[in-house]
Amino acid sequence: MCAFYRDDSQQLCVDGLSLAEITATHGSPLYVYSGAGITEAFTQFQAAVAPVSGKVHFAMKANSALGVLALIGRLGGGMDIVSLGELARAQAARIDPASVVFSGVGKSDDDIRQALACGIGQINAESIPEVAAISAIAADMGVVAPVALRVNVDVNPGTHAKISTGQRDTKFGISTDQREASDLYRVLCDDPHIRPAGLAVHIGSQIRNLAPFEAAYSALLTLANELRNAEMPVPNLDLGGGIGVDYDMAGPTDFTAYGKLVERLFKDQGFTLGFEPGRAIIANNGVLVTKVIYVKQGDNKRFVIVDAAMNDLLRPTLYEAHHAIWPITAPQPSIGKADIVGPVCETGDYLGLDRDMPNLANGDALAVMSAGAYGAVMASSYNSRSPAAEVMVLDGKAHLLRGARPIAKMINDESIPDFTAAAKN
Ligand SMILES: Cc1ncc(COP(=O)(O)O)c(C=O)c1O
Repeated sequence: MCAFYRDDSQQLCVDGLSLAEITATHGSPLYVYSGAGITEAFTQFQAAVAPVSGKVHFAMKANSALGVLALIGRLGGGMDIVSLGELARAQAARIDPASVVFSGVGKSDDDIRQALACGIGQINAESIPEVAAISAIAADMGVVAPVALRVNVDVNPGTHAKISTGQRDTKFGISTDQREASDLYRVLCDDPHIRPAGLAVHIGSQIRNLAPFEAAYSALLTLANELRNAEMPVPNLDLGGGIGVDYDMAGPTDFTAYGKLVERLFKDQGFTLGFEPGRAIIANNGVLVTKVIYVKQGDNKRFVIVDAAMNDLLRPTLYEAHHAIWPITAPQPSIGKADIVGPVCETGDYLGLDRDMPNLANGDALAVMSAGAYGAVMASSYNSRSPAAEVMVLDGKAHLLRGARPIAKMINDESIPDFTAAAKN
């Protein structure tokens, strides 16, 4: 069932509350998440990979609100992180560090040291110098680092270029060509400061077709078996994330076919499996509510100027991403196309282009659908705007997860040099 639905009077609702009521209390623009929807998506993903006993690490780059992380933690989820900031968030949400996987191409010495100090479950290394750095730091700390190798299996995921990570010419992973990956895995196995944890792959995001997953997973399996045949332990295979969602219908994602693929490839192969879904858990379980400020009739176009902007939701600007945009009250017939744009001083600042829209006026509210993933996490204070607050509805109550950052606080965090003293020196 869709987390966001229309009630009998056609109001857009989530878990028994109308978005109009929630925005009346918490203001606009506002991210609203469905706790029930997140719970359903996460438990359905767990069920889909249960036949292979998969451990699910939520990719918190998709949404790192502590309330969301804590909810997923209560459902038994671990976390996939890419920075010390995300590690701190996992800890603040009381996620056991042993259930945290550290991904990313550029971990600094400090990242590695702090991850090892807290007992991280697995570091996915992506380069020869990174493995050397992990080894040296582990030796210095007197610990053994659990390290998996993220490999690049040169598979085109068939998604937007900016979120494709599976091809050879991207910065991600160690190439499986010409023995680079197997030679480096041997280095892991021979290093007394490293415990080889296995292999990882992640070929990209918003992948709507299973064929690229099958190609990548088959290549991973071949390599894993080669390593095993060469007497190297490969306990775990981390299959990454990447499952796409329907941005038109904003409905739940069905994980059954993905689960069956994984079962067919990996059942009884003797590997522990890990997964890192992000978008598929939360994209369609969040919306960005925004209110109309003005409607402006241009020469050729109607512009609906709203109070949310690219600083709140960057995806349309960055990826030309499509989000359905629906009125939160009973939808009226369209009077024609309109661009839904924000107040930021960029032509690229829009939430939707050429959308059929009813007559709209100041104060009318719209919901930008499927905004739960890669929405609030990418927000900025561009144009010195305070990014939208975040609310999660749980058991029929709206909980404020994060308030809008007050402008006064942003300004107080800065300082002005003492120009008179500088001039005297
Ligand atoms: C290593 C890794 N794992 C998991 C994910 C999550 O991907 P998605 O949100 O598409 O499931 C990403 C995001 O690109 C990633 O880089």
